[in-house]
Amino acid sequence: MTSHPVKFANRVARVKPSFTLEMASRAAEMRSQGIDVINFSVGEPDFNTPEHIIAAGKTAMDEGYTKYTAGAGMIELRQAICDKLKRENGVDYTPVEILVSNGEKQSLYNACQVLFDKGDEVVVFAPYWVSFPEFVRLADAEPIIVGTLPHKQFEADFDDLEKKVTENVKGVIVNSPSNPTGGVWSSEALIRLLNLAAKRNWTVISDECYERLVFDGEFISAEKLNRDYNIGARVVTCMSLSKTYAMTGWRIGYAAGDEAIIKAMSKIQGQTTSCANSIGQRAAIVALSGDQQPVEEMRIKFRKRRDLMVSLLNEIPNVTCVMPGGAFYAFPDLSHYIGKKANGKIIQDSFDLSEYILNLESVVTVPGDGFGAPGHIRFSCATDRDTIRRGISKVANALKQLD
Ligand SMILES: Cc1ncc(COP(=O)(O)O)c(C=O)c1O
Repeated sequence: MTSHPVKFANRVARVKPSFTLEMASRAAEMRSQGIDVINFSVGEPDFNTPEHIIAAGKTAMDEGYTKYTAGAGMIELRQAICDKLKRENGVDYTPVEILVSNGEKQSLYNACQVLFDKGDEVVVFAPYWVSFPEFVRLADAEPIIVGTLPHKQFEADFDDLEKKVTENVKGVIVNSPSNPTGGVWSSEALIRLLNLAAKRNWTVISDECYERLVFDGEFISAEKLNRDYNIGARVVTCMSLSKTYAMTGWRIGYAAGDEAIIKAMSKIQGQTTSCANSIGQRAAIVALSGDQQPVEEMRIKFRKRRDLMVSLLNEIPNVTCVMPGGAFYAFPDLSHYIGKKANGKIIQDSFDLSEYILNLESVVTVPGDGFGAPGHIRFSCATDRDTIRRGISKVANALKQLD
């Protein structure tokens, strides 16, 4: 026991905690007290991993795949990833251009660690996934927050981008389909961003973890456009098995990009977590190259839930919710209710509004302020249709009581 208080490194204070995880633990805590909680904060599919993938994990253990693997990932998995990228995304890679990580989150973190430094700026579009600005800060760089256009699937507001960029910008993070908005950028917007990046020598980090959850139209990888249109931008594509195969707990994601960048990312990973878990890697080979029907079944269910969720939200007076083209979130604008009173207390922001809904109706949501989107709240569709009906009617009831 020491009597001296711990002096933490500055980076601890600089980084914000993941409040999406906090909301999930609030829900669990209330449930453990016997409260009937409706949880719209979930950031993962409510389906289990498909059986044939689970079986592959079990076989991997039985066959002794329980040891360290190559730092960048098993060669068989990196080859399966290359085959998948060619088949599904239309882009050719070789295994030396692939890094397998402990979830895509680690690939994104590694990419920021190798590309950005103190004094650098990185464009992040708001509403953003909570981790993007933090990955940039953990690399000692500064996120530059740029607006998006809600009526255009939250694509970049290029006027705002032009206003905010400086000579210090070294990269840009794009996430389509997006968490938290579900927005899917048009090819035109991606091409425009890639052209800017090529001209100004920015690296594009393209987070495509919701690639298989696109409901209207077809998913196109940023790198595919980059190659088809000969744009010449430097793109690091980060992808995940988490959402596509309901494998969040297996922690397998990957990055594809220039060999030199992948090698640098691999070096950082080698000195932090060595390699991704071996059992998950074996299961990932089967996930990527096996039966894809369960993925399509999940997509169809998510689309039905999205349709229901968005139409119910739009039925609430003074709530507008654009139809997200992908992922499994609805991101309505509730700004009409900010500034209203609940029992004499003013609702100051979306944190207050989310808290009010939670306390009155036991419905857990995620406030938009945390995603850089004041006045909005994120609702996850990772729950069944009856729960969506019941939960949104409770939200409507809570909002009705504000004055
Ligand atoms: C936009 C986005 N990127 C990346 C991830 C991380 O995925 P993984 O589980 O592969 O680390 C998530 C997970 O919520 C996400 O929403």
